Amino acid sequence: GSTRFYDFKVQMLKVNKLCNTRNIVTINQMYPGPAVYAQEGDRLIIKLTNETPYNASIHWHGVRQIRSCWSDGPSYITQCPVQPGRTFTYKFTLVKQKGTLFWHAHFSWLRATVYGALIIYPKKGVPYPFKHPYEEHTIILGEYWNKDLVQLERIVVASGGPAPVAEAYTINGHPGPNYNCSANDVYTIDVVPGQTYMLRLIGTLLHMECFFSIANHKLTIVEADGEYTKPLTTDHVMLGPGQTVNVLVTTNQKIGRYSMAMGPYMSGQNVTIQHITSIAYFQYVGASPHSVALPASLLPRFDDNLVVKTVMDGLKILQIRNIPKEIDTNLFFTIGFNVNKCVSKTPKLNCQGSNGGVMATSMNNNSFIKPTISLLQAYYYHINGHFTEDFPGYPLKFYDFVNGAPNSAPNNTGSKNGTRTKVIEYGSRVQLILQDTGTVTSENHPIHFHGYSFYVIGYGSGNYNPKTATFNLVDPPYMNTIGVPVGGWAAIRFVADNPGVWFMHCHLEVHMTWGLGVVLIVKNGQGPMETLPHPPADMPLC
Ligand code: C2O
Repeated sequence: GSTRFYDFKVQMLKVNKLCNTRNIVTINQMYPGPAVYAQEGDRLIIKLTNETPYNASIHWHGVRQIRSCWSDGPSYITQCPVQPGRTFTYKFTLVKQKGTLFWHAHFSWLRATVYGALIIYPKKGVPYPFKHPYEEHTIILGEYWNKDLVQLERIVVASGGPAPVAEAYTINGHPGPNYNCSANDVYTIDVVPGQTYMLRLIGTLLHMECFFSIANHKLTIVEADGEYTKPLTTDHVMLGPGQTVNVLVTTNQKIGRYSMAMGPYMSGQNVTIQHITSIAYFQYVGASPHSVALPASLLPRFDDNLVVKTVMDGLKILQIRNIPKEIDTNLFFTIGFNVNKCVSKTPKLNCQGSNGGVMATSMNNNSFIKPTISLLQAYYYHINGHFTEDFPGYPLKFYDFVNGAPNSAPNNTGSKNGTRTKVIEYGSRVQLILQDTGTVTSENHPIHFHGYSFYVIGYGSGNYNPKTATFNLVDPPYMNTIGVPVGGWAAIRFVADNPGVWFMHCHLEVHMTWGLGVVLIVKNGQGPMETLPHPPADMPLC
């Protein structure tokens, strides 16, 4: 492969959106940020220079970072953030990776505006496993906030209150005509009839999952999370934050202007949300600009779990590989909301969660607390006192899953706080059951792994029951972010062949802030590829 250089300057940009003018954090004053293009096997060298008053770091979402864990990017996990006025250069090789991925800020909630596509083409001369599309377009599904996101995170944490809702959903940064002052703030793709287009869909919303559809057009999924899938034709796709999907669309309709729409998927009960959808145009050349209106019924209802399940049921990996049939490490992690007891003296300001409590999330009753230095550095240099290795990865026999509704799964109230990590032996074949519980409310959680993709071998509703669960060990999808069904479970498998310190967390940003995550430490092996590389000389300090 070749080496590609990019200059990423973290800079403020003045934007006019939704009848407001404000300064947002960007890369190179672009919103969305610059797309990074590469080929499988290439080396990327990206120099980050921080010219804003905020801390920053960038995560290359979906890149496995084989022997380059120092370049993974999550602040306080693999690096200290890059402080104002400082630089850090990310260096990594795209080992056996291709497809649609993306990059985003991994400090506070800056991902809201700091993101862009990371597109990895197959090696030269290697075709797609489908007819080459006439054109490719990237569609990034995001949110827009009329707020300072770093400040907003602090306010939410301090108040103990619920998740804030964005001002708008956006397609490639544009809210579209359903929002105030946005009649012309609309993304448009011009298409010609009788061709097949590939859309690279990227979900980078902050606090919501979403549906995406195009009026009158079918979508054929051919790739998910950077891995080819068997072609699956559908009317709608659902993307959680952190998920990417490539779809083929054939322009077989009358000349006209068709809506591409995105709207919320919020599976939780008792949740009221905005129902405004973001619209972009899929416009045939020669169409009059007023030709087709959006049918209101274009998108599934915000709580349509069945659409999500149907698409997931159809998602199969195209190129079958070795899925671990035996397992050495059997883990079970619960995912839950908590309302912690409020201890503040000013409850009006600080106890705005349900029943006057404090909102929190947890895995196996542990709310993850970010350390104040980089965990990878602490691990590498044996600096004591910043984390413990006692995250409970319960063996399955500790629980009886047969009885009980989702809410009677391991109790998530009264969780502990801590920087608890789970150590996994190098090379072990891991099975992990993710079980959604939810004593407060329940929703689909997009759980993302750094450093790994994994086979999604099973999922279902209710409590996981080893006696009745069925697994697909033949052609399961290979993903880096799995939407754990609301009130249900998902089973994944992977081989722990990438040593390092890897964050695994819910990609709904506020859930991560509240503690829905854990750090997996995959121990060094013995061989040269199995040990941690040395840190680069320009590693930022906290
Ligand atoms: Cu795309 Cu830790 O996240």
